[in-house]
Order: sequence, then C-alpha cells, then structure tokens
Amino acid sequence: MNVLELFSLKGKVALVTGGAGLYGVTISTALGEAGASVVIASRNLNRCEKVAKDLRSKNLDVVAMPLDLSIKDSIIALKDRIVNTYGKIDILFNNAVARKGGSMDIMTAEEWEEPMKVNSTGLFLCSKIFIEEMVKQKSGSVINISSIYGIVGPDFSIYGNTGMTNPANYSFAKGGMIAFTRYLATYYAKYNIRVNCISPGGLFTNQPKEFVDNYIKRTPLGRMANEDDLKGAAVFLASDASSYITGHNLVVDGGWTIW
Ligand SMILES: NC(=O)c1ccc[n+]([C@@H]2O[C@H](COP(=O)([O-])OP(=O)(O)OC[C@H]3O[C@@H](n4cnc5c(N)ncnc54)[C@H](O)[C@@H]3O)[C@@H](O)[C@H]2O)c1
Repeated sequence: MNVLELFSLKGKVALVTGGAGLYGVTISTALGEAGASVVIASRNLNRCEKVAKDLRSKNLDVVAMPLDLSIKDSIIALKDRIVNTYGKIDILFNNAVARKGGSMDIMTAEEWEEPMKVNSTGLFLCSKIFIEEMVKQKSGSVINISSIYGIVGPDFSIYGNTGMTNPANYSFAKGGMIAFTRYLATYYAKYNIRVNCISPGGLFTNQPKEFVDNYIKRTPLGRMANEDDLKGAAVFLASDASSYITGHNLVVDGGWTIW
C-alpha cells in the first residue's frame, strides 16, 4: 500500500477522552485531518461542543458527547451511544487526566487518592469497555497519553519562584499507564488490537517566563512543545502505518528524557 494511504484514517471512528483539553484538541484535530470521524468527550459537554463546532467549521467530522470517567455507567453510556451512532469504534485515545494536590510535604491521602478514580480506575474501565467492542471487530488501536513524568522524575529546579509544582500522584499515574499499556498490548494482541502509549513533554501555554526559560534550557531541542508536535505521533499510532507496533511508548519531548 502507498505510504500515505497507510496513514489515512478515512472510515475510522475515534474517541478522544478529554478531547477539548490542551493536547486533546491537538489529537482530535490530527485525527480529523487524517479523515477519521472523531468523538470528543468529557464532563464539560459545553466545552466539548465548542471545540467540536470549531473543528467542524474546518471541515472535520467531529462531535461532542458527555463522559465522566469516574462513573462506570457514564463510560458504558458513551460506548453504547458511539456504537449506536457509528456501528463501531476503531481508535481510543485515553487522553483525559485529573490533577489534584501539591508537593509531597503538603499532599494528603485524600488528595493522593481522588484523581486515581479517573487516572487509574477510569483508565481501566474505559479501556476494558471500549476494547470489548474492538474484540468483537477483531481490530482496534488504543493510545494512552502518558508523560515525561511517567519516565523520569521531575526536575523541581525548573519551577523556581513560580509557585508551580508537580504532584507525586501524577508521576504515579503516568508511570502506571506505561506499564498498563504493555499489559493490554500482550493481553489483546491475539484479537489484532494494538495498544501503544505516547509520552509528551510540556506544551507551551504561556506559562510564567521563569518556568519557560528553565524548561527550554533543559530541553535539547531548545523549546517547549507546540500544538502541532503531537499530531504525527497520534496519527501514526492510530493508523495502519504502525500496524506491526504494539506495547510501545513513543516519547515526544524534544529530548527532555534523553539525558
Ligand atoms: N499539557 C502538557 O504539557 C502535558 C504534558 C505531558 C503529558 N500530558 C498529558 O496529556 C493529556 C492531556 O493533558 P492536558 O494538559 O491537555 O490536560 P487538560 O487539563 O487540558 O485536559 C484534561 C481533560 O481531561 C478531562 N477530564 C478530567 N476529568 C475527567 C473525568 N472525570 N471524565 C472525563 N474527562 C475528564 C477534562 O475535562 C479535560 O478535557 C494528559 O493525559 C496529560 O497527562 C500533558
């Protein structure tokens, strides 16, 4: 097959959880531009609808649907709605994330636990419920969005005096996600379902100058990620261009983790 055809997502149905968030918009745009029908879903339906409308105005096939990953019935309802609407699900991006808590010395057990409902149990349930549909089809591609902090520890010096920090439960969830990716990849390989991971670096969103300067100094490619940087990796792992790749963690970080 022609290599550009291998990257095409024409006729594919994709779900992006947290699709109206920062990286979610990038991923949803990339999938739509590659030809997929895209469902973006989160608790904030209004925000998802706004993003979907904006992407439809660019001639992309994108719709919004509600999802609360901390509620099992909400995940099942979304799966039923997608299957009733499109008849199938080809691509699942586990992109949504819940964040809670500050640095180790002030984090409480409650703050540690709260986001796990979404980042751990929600990830497990969403994967299980949508992969069950993919098993029936004997095809599918699941992509988990982890982070550089699932691979390396935070360099706290980059936060300087900004008041920013990085909670330990985030590293715990993102590291677990990479291991969970490998587990799912071997478990479901016999059904022709591939499960991969992307570990992005920090996206530039007008963070404080002190933080950005420190971040850039530590990044071999000398910049933070922009809104296009994740697009190629997302379409690659979603499409047949990666048909012999499963259990992989594709690091898209400008070199942050290579030293
Ligand atoms: N932004 C970055 O610099 C960066 C860097 C590395 C990795 N990541 C990863 O990229 C992914 C997206 O991050 P982001 O920064 O775009 O996040 P974001 O905060 O902009 O978006 C997160 C999304 O998750 C959704 N969400 C939260 N709780 C939910 C729930 N209970 N049910 C359904 N949806 C829920 C939110 O509504 C939101 O749309 C995450 O997995 C994150 O770990 C982000």
